[in-house]
Amino acid sequence: MRVLGIETSCDETGVAVYDAARGLLAHAVHTQSAVHAEFGGVVPELASRDHVRRLPPLVRRVLEESGSRPGDVDGVAYTAGPGLVGALLVGTAFGRSLAWAWGVAALGVHHMEGHLLAPMLEPDPPAFPFLALLVSGGHTQLVEVEGVGAYEILGESVDDAAGEAFDKVATLLGLPYPGGPALADLARNGDPGRFRFPRPMTDRPGLDFSFSGLKTFALNTLAGGHRDERFLADVARAFEDAVVDTLVIKCRRALRATGLPVLVVSGGVGANRRLRAALADMAQREDAAVSYPRPELCTDNGAMIAYAGCCRLLHGASEPRRFGARARWGLEELRPPGA
Ligand code: KG4
Ligand code: ZN
Repeated sequence: MRVLGIETSCDETGVAVYDAARGLLAHAVHTQSAVHAEFGGVVPELASRDHVRRLPPLVRRVLEESGSRPGDVDGVAYTAGPGLVGALLVGTAFGRSLAWAWGVAALGVHHMEGHLLAPMLEPDPPAFPFLALLVSGGHTQLVEVEGVGAYEILGESVDDAAGEAFDKVATLLGLPYPGGPALADLARNGDPGRFRFPRPMTDRPGLDFSFSGLKTFALNTLAGGHRDERFLADVARAFEDAVVDTLVIKCRRALRATGLPVLVVSGGVGANRRLRAALADMAQREDAAVSYPRPELCTDNGAMIAYAGCCRLLHGASEPRRFGARARWGLEELRPPGA
């Protein structure tokens, strides 16, 4: 089975072709950061319009690069939620129309299920069951994964997501949008010993997160010094260390509580180098394995949507007649394919 995947939930247009027998054949992402940079964040209407412009040529290019003709494609998977509803509707309308024109199945995919299954695209994929840390711009969740569609959320952020905290603190530091990668770059030159930020909610039991207090802490720290390059880098480093440490502590706790042998890390913040290194180190000490998609498949992309769609289409999943996209959609609402 060969599936075309389309991702348009936020500010990246992602397209890919995944083949169940041959793996990922081609994928490409167009990022809209230049469109939104001057506004300091994603402007939903501009995101939708840019997806409209970018999606058709990107689909044409990826089909060509994968060596697929329309008759070779057995299904079209597109992100149906959660995300910006206008942006989602572009991928939904385009994906469903294409599938209808080609006479193949169409399927709406849950964006976070895409992130969750992204490590399966790598050469040595993790086996079920595993523990997953999903860290994106909109979500921070620890999930027990029994198999495709069998998800139990063990903990999640009660306020800002980790990526959102990165983006907000980056703005306080005067960094351009998108803030997460820029903050991580700045932190590289920072002194880890100069400031110490709290590790929120690690002093009490449970697996939930809270990152909004770190933003206030950063604001107060910034008010107490002169904003030169050195000072900003030290604050960035202290913030990054606090987020990384907090995520490591909660992942360790979840590994111990569940006894699961593998930790999977995915979502945009999963591209953070310091986080990847710290989690790998912790997992080794816990005698657990850790599995990440390559950084380009941690952030939003079409490959994870093509893969998740393929898993479900192979089990006979089919599209409901109702046309629509869901801005909000809980991962735990999903069921295994065929169930
Ligand atoms: O998964 P993703 O691409 O989109 C969502 O589904 O939200 O995640 C985007 C988030 C943004 O908040 C971005 O700042 C953050 O991931 N991010 C990073 C890094 N790369 C992306 N945060 C920290 N370090 C990075 N290297
Ligand atoms: Zn995402």
